Amino acid sequence: MSYEKEFEKFIAAYPAYKETQKLDEMRANDYSRLDRLGHVYLDYTGGGLYAESQIKDHQVMLRDNVFGNPHSSNPTSMASTALVEGARAYVLEFFNADPEVYDVIFTPNASGALKLIGEAYPFEQNGRYMLAFDNHNSVNGIREFAHAHGAPVHYVPVELPELRLPYEQLKAGWAQADPAGNNLFSFPAQSNFSGVKHPLEWIAEAQALGWDVLLDAAAFVPTNKLDLSRFAPDFVSLSFYKIFGYPTGLGALIAKKEKLGKLRRPWFAGGTITVASVQGEKYYLAEGHTAFEDGTVDYLNIPAVKIGLKHIANVGYQAIGTRVSCLTGWLLDNLKAMKHSTGVPLAKIYGPLTTEMRGGTIAVNFYNKDGVAFKHRYIEEQANQHKISLRTGCFCNPGAGEVALQLEEFELVACFSQPEHEQRLSFDDFALCFDGQESGAVRISVGIASNFADVQTFLNFMRELLD
Ligand SMILES: Cc1ncc(COP(=O)(O)O)c(C=O)c1O
Repeated sequence: MSYEKEFEKFIAAYPAYKETQKLDEMRANDYSRLDRLGHVYLDYTGGGLYAESQIKDHQVMLRDNVFGNPHSSNPTSMASTALVEGARAYVLEFFNADPEVYDVIFTPNASGALKLIGEAYPFEQNGRYMLAFDNHNSVNGIREFAHAHGAPVHYVPVELPELRLPYEQLKAGWAQADPAGNNLFSFPAQSNFSGVKHPLEWIAEAQALGWDVLLDAAAFVPTNKLDLSRFAPDFVSLSFYKIFGYPTGLGALIAKKEKLGKLRRPWFAGGTITVASVQGEKYYLAEGHTAFEDGTVDYLNIPAVKIGLKHIANVGYQAIGTRVSCLTGWLLDNLKAMKHSTGVPLAKIYGPLTTEMRGGTIAVNFYNKDGVAFKHRYIEEQANQHKISLRTGCFCNPGAGEVALQLEEFELVACFSQPEHEQRLSFDDFALCFDGQESGAVRISVGIASNFADVQTFLNFMRELLD
């Protein structure tokens, strides 16, 4: 079928796409490099793309000012401080967070935000750490701090086929909070594996039962509005490059001021104290975000965060979300329909098969006419030849992957307990433990600059795999 006919079919199925036309104009002006260089970018969950206007605005700012280290009160230092604090205030405004209630800590990325929580949360034996199976590894890693302090760790599994979290099991877990202890519950607003959106209503529910809630919003905020006046987690982690591509190297922990007070940092650093003494062997931590930003902040790049957020505000989450939903729906419809002459479906999608409570991330494996899986590495190599950027592996989300691929606990334990796997295990060796079984998947994700042509190029590439 011709491209035009396919487009007509698409619009008939997803008429709301037409309301997002301004994104086509934006792509032509602000993301023109995609088409000029012939790239089909389908890894928005890995990293967002920046608009050319963001770079220009940042460059002008750097060219027309002199900025010094913000730890002084000289004019160039004050210029930096003004822009860093302006960006901090704008992050709160962007997420509709009351500055009386929330504070923003700039971190290197979402993982940096999560590590701050891990190392400073007052885990103890009579508290708990409860988390979802489909968390990113940087949330999983917090369990090591919980273990070190003797706090029980409780995982809630996602369930097939949609890879959603079972509410009854969550409620049972929340009921186990020890009111005398510190209890931390962590879940992703959107899964970076399956694209599932988990209900944000859980935040208030868990809090009412004695939990501090850490919402990992890294995969959610690139295409969805997070309104902290409506949903009020105690801690939120995110990476800015995932939202607007540039700059990399910056994320944030947005935290309730009251809850920051309960964190216990394991060290102090330049910039985090009011007074530290060598001979007196004493230090006094500063207040609020200052106590959590080690050393000199990235003062030349933090102002570009405001530029990036303003770009997203101008484009609007409404348009981004609508476009992402339409393109995701079309991808799902087409992948579901592709079958070999033998009747074997080409694709096995992990997670929801409709756009209901899901974002624009699709994890999938592909099969030949005899039902044998194509290695995800092979798919990536083929995609590379078409200049299609997608992601393969388990996307740092082993829990969702284990459930999706039906890897059982006993198989994992058997693999890890082999003597040669005592200290080290490469991903290839790990795959060998599950000989013949897939140990990863292909992930495609759409975002702010995606269009119908990108998706259609990918689907045509997939059709080449049909016998
Ligand atoms: C849901 C989620 N959380 C956390 C992270 C970690 O982000 P970063 O690698 O920027 O620290 C990612 C990255 O893919 C993610 O998707």
